[in-house]
Amino acid sequence: MTVKNQKKYQSGVCFFTGVFVLGVAPLQVVAQVAEQAGKAVAAGMVSVGQASAAKGLYTRKGADTCLKCHDEDYKYPIYPVFYSKHGDRNDKRTPMSQLQCESCHGPGRAHATEPKAGFKRARIISFGAKSSISPAKQNNQCIQCHNNKGHLAWTGSAHETQNVLCVDCHTLHVRKDPVLDKIQQAKACYTCHKKQRAEFERNSAHPVRFDKMVCTQCHNPHGSFGDALLKTNTKNETCYTCHAEKRGPFLWTHAPVAEDCGTCHEHHGSMHRPLLKKRAPLLCQQCHTQAGHPSVAYTENGLASQTPNKFLLAKSCLNCHTQVHGSNHPSGVKLMR
Ligand code: HEC
Ligand code: HEC
Ligand code: HEC
Ligand code: HEC
Ligand code: HEC
Ligand code: HEC
Ligand code: HEC
Ligand code: HEC
Ligand code: HEC
Ligand code: HEC
Repeated sequence: MTVKNQKKYQSGVCFFTGVFVLGVAPLQVVAQVAEQAGKAVAAGMVSVGQASAAKGLYTRKGADTCLKCHDEDYKYPIYPVFYSKHGDRNDKRTPMSQLQCESCHGPGRAHATEPKAGFKRARIISFGAKSSISPAKQNNQCIQCHNNKGHLAWTGSAHETQNVLCVDCHTLHVRKDPVLDKIQQAKACYTCHKKQRAEFERNSAHPVRFDKMVCTQCHNPHGSFGDALLKTNTKNETCYTCHAEKRGPFLWTHAPVAEDCGTCHEHHGSMHRPLLKKRAPLLCQQCHTQAGHPSVAYTENGLASQTPNKFLLAKSCLNCHTQVHGSNHPSGVKLMR
């Protein structure tokens, strides 16, 4: 859209602010401008966002035209979109105060015209896995407006490169998109991430299944500059956002802790409390081998019935080395206090 058009259409919006009643108020002014925008698009006078989407012409009356056929009886619920943030006509940035339905669905004049006998109705941009529109093009319809801070790393992210659609997670023709609801979010992710669902069902797990945590406390599904769509640059940074006391600094640091919590812990869930990859002593004996004092490989043979082995029972190595994450005690060098 050119700046000139932008101005015109904004005045159109002001004119109608507050008087919009579903399907009743005519939307001509907005739509006429929309039409001009359509012509401008056709003439190549477009901003980057609209250019990729728009080749055809926009309707004269915007939503009113669409609602003639896609009305309350239509098999698919259209109206709730008016009650969502996208339907807020007091907000100049929303589709409903711009090209309305066609901000998302693209120019629809050809589609809205009854086809001649024997011809098919012209297509319009539709969304979802079954749509014939390419994933990139579908997503661009959304990205033209949603390219702010949280979305900078979308391009090249695991989801973008695997052709995951915005609408695989988001539902738009509803009052409130379920994936934005903390209690329903994980369900949306689990449709594809079944392995992770199983991990969160393990007996020691981050409490996602109790609705006390959501995936997006650790991940940004829109892409990130860290591994595995983590919100922070490193895994440990993510853990520190909640387990700050593990950051230290400690007088006596336990090297693997500062390096990667994931050396000993599963990030989602584990069969060994608390979220441990293995139980002590095996956990510790991966690194602390038989040299010197303690780290002889203990097996059940250590459990002679008369002499219970203090290296193996109860918390094993942690019976003595309680400060496994690091110690601030002057004589805590062996992580025992
Ligand atoms: C004259 C009637 C009519 C008008 C006006 C109309 N549509 Fe449609 N639309 C249809 C029919 C019929 C279908 C096919 C529906 C079906 O297969 O059940 C359809 C299908 C669609 C689809 C599914 C994708 C496709 O191409 O099949 C979308 C999205 C859509 N319309 C959006 C819109 C929008 C947005 C507008 C306004 C710009 C609009 N329609 C105006 C009749 C209309
Ligand atoms: C914010 C973007 C957006 C706006 C605005 C919007 N839609 Fe949609 N529409 C979608 C998406 C995305 C879907 C796919 C299903 C979903 O996510 O709810 C869809 C689905 C549809 C469908 C079903 C298509 C099919 O494949 O069967 C129709 C019809 C439709 N929209 C018509 C309209 C009409 C008419 C309007 C204006 C009143 C409108 N839409 C406004 C994004 C939008
Ligand atoms: C014409 C611009 C425009 C288009 C096109 C658009 N959006 Fe939006 N969207 C907005 C605005 C404006 C908001 C409100 C933002 C706010 O409140 O900060 C919004 C809000 C949202 C929200 C948050 C809703 C809430 O209830 O908080 C989601 C999710 C969203 N959009 C997804 C999409 C998806 C997916 C598409 C493509 C199908 C899309 N949008 C297309 C402008 C747009
Ligand atoms: C893998 C699932 C997933 C995909 C794919 C996805 N989103 Fe989201 N989106 C979410 C979740 C979950 C939230 C809620 C985030 C939160 O609660 O912190 C969200 C929030 C949003 C919001 C509101 C908050 C914000 O970040 O501005 C917008 C807008 C949005 N998404 C747009 C998009 C667009 C546009 C696309 C496609 C380019 C997209 N999303 C793709 C899951 C997804
Ligand atoms: C439509 C399917 C789909 C949905 C829904 C989905 N994802 Fe994904 N996700 C993928 C695909 C495909 C990949 C890339 C391949 C892989 O690693 O499995 C991926 C990868 C990821 C990765 C790993 C990235 C990496 O670099 O290894 C994370 C983290 C992730 N998704 C989180 C989420 C979250 C959180 C949600 C819900 C808000 C979600 N996903 C919803 C399909 C999906
Ligand atoms: C406590 C933080 C946290 C929460 C909550 C969380 N994840 Fe993760 N997730 C991680 C970490 C850490 C990684 C691994 C990063 C790495 O390997 O570098 C990861 C990795 C992943 C991967 C990549 C494959 C794998 O399993 O290693 C996927 C997919 C994934 N998470 C999906 C999800 C989904 C879906 C949810 C919500 C149901 C979720 N995550 C909740 C921290 C979290
Ligand atoms: C968004 C906050 C958050 C983040 C980020 C986070 N955790 Fe947690 N963590 C929790 C909550 C909440 C619990 C559950 C505490 C409870 O059940 O009392 C928990 C529990 C744990 C437990 C088990 C504690 C116990 O006493 O059973 C371990 C181990 C753990 N987290 C490790 C990690 C690791 C490793 C990371 C980084 C990959 C991480 N956490 C990231 C919030 C977080
Ligand atoms: C060398 C292995 C190891 C590494 C690395 C490690 N932990 Fe632990 N962590 C343990 C063990 C063992 C326990 C159980 C302690 C117990 O039972 O007394 C534990 C317990 C926990 C607990 C629950 C009890 C508590 O002390 O609060 C949390 C939370 C935790 N770790 C977070 C982290 C975080 C965050 C990191 C990374 C900064 C990390 N751990 C790195 C071995 C490790
Ligand atoms: C990933 C490898 C790794 C794992 C697993 C591991 N450690 Fe360590 N640990 C180290 C390293 C490296 C050092 C530092 C050694 C040094 O400074 O010479 C260290 C130091 C220590 C020290 C202090 C030794 C000294 O000489 O000051 C103790 C005690 C210790 N670890 C106990 C444990 C216990 C108990 C566990 C199991 C809960 C464990 N470690 C798991 C790698 C590991
Ligand atoms: C009964 C208490 C106790 C138990 C159980 C125990 N340790 Fe120790 N550990 C010690 C003491 C005491 C020292 C200090 C020895 C010294 O300074 O010579 C020590 C020292 C260490 C050191 C440093 C070695 C060195 O040469 O200074 C490591 C590493 C270590 N223990 C790992 C482990 C591991 C792994 C386990 C479990 C298999 C374990 N410990 C179980 C008491 C214990």
